[in-house]
Amino acid sequence: MQEIFLENKTIIVFLHVISAVVWVGGMIAMRFAAHQSFMTIESPQKRLEHIAHALKRLFTIVFPFVIILIITAVFMLIGYDIKNTDFNSIAHAKEGIWVVMFISLMVMISRRNKGVKFLNSGDTFRAKEQIEIIGKYMVPINIILGICAIFLGTLVSSSI
Ligand code: HEM
Repeated sequence: MQEIFLENKTIIVFLHVISAVVWVGGMIAMRFAAHQSFMTIESPQKRLEHIAHALKRLFTIVFPFVIILIITAVFMLIGYDIKNTDFNSIAHAKEGIWVVMFISLMVMISRRNKGVKFLNSGDTFRAKEQIEIIGKYMVPINIILGICAIFLGTLVSSSI
């Protein structure tokens, strides 16, 4: 694996960076652009339907990049032999961030799906209970975590 990394370092680091851009950038666009426009929709049922639809699009787009990010991370961990460098603790911090962001993404997907079931049965109140927390807290927290991981990545890349 180290040979594969050293021969393809540019493309592996590029895939790592573009995956972070799509995941974190996608959440920022959703939370600070699309979300604001959804809030102007009068009918709670219609508003939740649009939010649920946009979330499904977001999750479908970012999921492959979430997986590419961890695969490229493993290549870099082995390729750079990071455990024998000064960046081992930073790499562990990034691993921890990825795991928290990934679990949060899975919870968001399941809450969204539960919310849609309630919407389809006309139970707007419980649909709101399931979906509202995603935009209010879960996406902003994942954005902050992602920005921290990007900063740590820049720390590593500027001196590895
Ligand atoms: C899963 C654990 C992770 C590991 C082991 C890891 C490892 C690394 C390493 C070794 C670099 C330096 C690459 C180089 O320049 O040669 C790097 C850069 C980077 N990482 Fe990660 N990373 C992980 C997770 C993440 C996550 C979750 C994000 C963001 C959501 C992220 C975003 C970035 C970015 C944007 C860079 C490029 C920084 C730059 O070139 O200035 N990484 N990462």
